[in-house]
Amino acid sequence: MHLPLIVEKGVSLKPYNTFGLPAMAPTLVRITSEADVRRVLDHPELGRAPKFILGGGSNLVLTHDLDRCVLKVEIKGRRLLETRDDAWVIEVGAGEAWHDVVAWSLDEGLPGLENLALIPGTVGAAPVQNIGAYGVELQDRFESMDVVDLTTGRTVTLGAQRCQFGYRDSVFKRELAGKAVITRVRLKLPRPWQPLLGYLELERKMQETGISRPDARQIFNWVCEIRRAKLPDPAVIGNAGSFFKNPVVTPEQCRDIIGRDPEIVHYALPDGSFKLAAGWLIDACGWKGKSIGRAGVYDKQALVLINRGGAIGAEVVTLARAIQESVYGRFGIRLEPEPVVV
Ligand code: EPU
Repeated sequence: MHLPLIVEKGVSLKPYNTFGLPAMAPTLVRITSEADVRRVLDHPELGRAPKFILGGGSNLVLTHDLDRCVLKVEIKGRRLLETRDDAWVIEVGAGEAWHDVVAWSLDEGLPGLENLALIPGTVGAAPVQNIGAYGVELQDRFESMDVVDLTTGRTVTLGAQRCQFGYRDSVFKRELAGKAVITRVRLKLPRPWQPLLGYLELERKMQETGISRPDARQIFNWVCEIRRAKLPDPAVIGNAGSFFKNPVVTPEQCRDIIGRDPEIVHYALPDGSFKLAAGWLIDACGWKGKSIGRAGVYDKQALVLINRGGAIGAEVVTLARAIQESVYGRFGIRLEPEPVVV
């Protein structure tokens, strides 16, 4: 038996976005099962109205009150679904906290997510922006997901191809935005487990500690240490992680910039293009530690914008634009925001 649908009215979204930005929602419904989504669709008032799908609110900049019904996805559950020769497959409710799932999988003896430790947000939000860190992206571990189509009310299973994963991007940021609620995600953890230690900061940890063959738990601990040292904890300082994507440029553009700024941090990509470190570009423009109004640039990582206390979305956007202008002025590169700006 399901409890009746509870529709909360006039809800503050401040506690539900990690930037801690103020905004109101006219209505909010907590979604704890797929059936809840269908009951919203059958609801006389909410059924046809546009929806805003909210996970952990960790990749969101709210600049004004919403005019739509918020579906706050709180679907729980995690289990080992299948043990195959090539992988363990786990199935997780979209409302589970991502980091808790990473920790749980290690406790269960199912390694493979350790490089993605301590990323804020929910499991359902992870594929939306194809989270990534320390050499692993969500798409590398993705098996499939269930979504409820908000037009038909049907549950559909989507594979990787349909999700159109890209760098911090997927179909859910584009044509499926607001159209489907991710309810369950299945992840495959390759067997046998192989450590992924190619990232410079992990190599540094190996040298510092003399541990040359770390297990998954050790990598998990290192990733947590690295992240804690340079990324602000959203529970303490409001933020949405990296605020801009690392820009990708052509070899010609890269050569041109290196000619002018030999120090620029850049990485060659398999297709011949180059990824530049946006944090370095912003830092080079002198933004680290600076503020506009109550929005600021984190002093340990210039790619992270923070709420210095009481900021509103407009202040964050003003700061972001000022940064974009100065990076464009100096390097001719347009930085693209990573979070969803509403
Ligand atoms: N750098 C600076 N100054 C700064 C910040 C960075 O010079 O203020 C330089 C660093 O020294 C380093 C380079 O820029 O040489 C890259 O910095 P970092 O290793 O911190 O990684 P990132 O490119 O800034 C990306 C992801 C992070 C992810 C890390 C680790 C994006 C937009 N960000 O950051 O993801 O944790 O790599 O893999 O791709 C997120 O998406 O929210 C996020 C935190």
